[in-house]
Amino acid sequence: MSFGTGKIWMNGSLVDWKDATIHIGSHVIHYGTGVFEGARCYETPKGSACFRLDAHTERLLDSAKIYRMDSPLDYKGWESAILDTIRVNKYKACYIRPLAYRGYNQLGVNPLPCPVDTAVLLWEWGAYLGADAIENGVDVRVSSWNRIAPNTFPAAAKATANYANSVLIKMEAVLDGYAEGIALDTMGYVSEGSGQNLFVVRKNILYTPPVSSSILGGITRDSVITIARGLGYDVREEVLPREMLYLADEAFFCGTAVEVTPIRSVDKMAIGTGKRPVTEAIRRTFFDILNGELPDTHNWLTFVYEDEAHLREGHRAVGARK
Ligand SMILES: Cc1ncc(COP(=O)(O)O)c(C=O)c1O
Repeated sequence: MSFGTGKIWMNGSLVDWKDATIHIGSHVIHYGTGVFEGARCYETPKGSACFRLDAHTERLLDSAKIYRMDSPLDYKGWESAILDTIRVNKYKACYIRPLAYRGYNQLGVNPLPCPVDTAVLLWEWGAYLGADAIENGVDVRVSSWNRIAPNTFPAAAKATANYANSVLIKMEAVLDGYAEGIALDTMGYVSEGSGQNLFVVRKNILYTPPVSSSILGGITRDSVITIARGLGYDVREEVLPREMLYLADEAFFCGTAVEVTPIRSVDKMAIGTGKRPVTEAIRRTFFDILNGELPDTHNWLTFVYEDEAHLREGHRAVGARK
């Protein structure tokens, strides 16, 4: 199945994709009052499995809390809504987009009188920055737009409103012929891409901006840190000046959509020599966990289908919190 087909979960009902509509007077359309997640389900040799579904569900509830939304679904409710929607659509692999948003009631700025509506939609999403990107890396620019400032939009919430900033970064980059933009925070330090975190490697040490640099605390970022430390690398969450990008031996984006994608150049300056041993080691380990070459020692996989239950030995049962 592809984008635009299948069933969408809306407020507890499964509806056809074409019928999954909301009223133009819904609060979220006017004021960006929504929170969401982006996760992936992978086809693994042991069956279809969601990657770090627990962490994504927790972040969704955290985002809702920051925006004072009483989520109609608790942790288990979200997990089963997601897993049921995958099962109903019989997806082997897909991108997962759960969403909670302020719906239809009145249109003053105050969202509190509006209901919190919920949805889960799924679609197939391949390499976000193109198949070539993973092989050759992407060319990016430092954005003329800064990332959201502290105490304006909370960067820790994956809120629809934050993506008004992301689309400005993305449009500028694309119209300038780049695959992505890297935003600096309002202090001028490196923050993140429009929809992904980033790492730079210098002298075999990995550096990534800390959460105080207006980043979304990425779940892939956390996985990369775990993998890299497991491989014996020194990983530092540090405030990074812009010039660290230019002096990097390697640099890469990471996120659910981009997975681990190397950066080839920043502002038309080539990154290192073009060799990427560290990026490759991390990428390989990440995918080896998904393709069963390596054991899922961190319990990152949640298997989707009941008939694959017997293969789940050693893994967390569906719906159980770690
Ligand atoms: C702004 C932003 N930063 C970082 C990320 C990476 O987060 P994750 O690895 O949890 O997908 C995303 C994607 O969700 C994002 O939209």
